[in-house]
Amino acid sequence: MAQDHAALPSKAADITPTPVRPGIDLQINGEAFHHTGDPEMPLLWYLRDVLRLNGTKYGGEHGEGGADLVLVNGKATSAISVTMSKLADKKITTVEGLTDRKGAGLHPLQQAFIDEDAIGCGYCTPGWLIASMDLLNRVKDPSDNDIDTLPNLCRCGCQTRVRKAVKRAAAAMKQGAKA
Ligand code: FES
Repeated sequence: MAQDHAALPSKAADITPTPVRPGIDLQINGEAFHHTGDPEMPLLWYLRDVLRLNGTKYGGEHGEGGADLVLVNGKATSAISVTMSKLADKKITTVEGLTDRKGAGLHPLQQAFIDEDAIGCGYCTPGWLIASMDLLNRVKDPSDNDIDTLPNLCRCGCQTRVRKAVKRAAAAMKQGAKA
């Protein structure tokens, strides 16, 4: 039986698919990434499910308790509450990004949390570290009241030791510990 080819494309160029949507370029812990998936995907799922950066935790659908905090251009931000579409050309730092990849070891904040035993089960710890980093970027010598303004919750009762850890880190950073 004869086939009707009239409706078929005449040139290969005619069948080049157009992209469904543009990708989103962003930087995470100093590395460039290009997200081509759902632009409404929360950043938390991109970090945990796509990149397998599991340090940032789920704390609730609105980021209650601060376990899902990351730095977006240096500002503590709920990773469940921000979608990939809002992150074009932004610089993200997760808790994994606080550690010096060139072998200088833990960030002074991480070391202070260890030294002050400010970690119970550890679920809230990445969020505390990120929120504390944001605080120390703004306030070099934070008071207990400053630390108490952080949105984080610890169900293991580490708040008092977190205060000490943040102050210890602030002192270390003032003395020139490498951040
Ligand atoms: S260390 Fe367990 S919730 Fe904070």
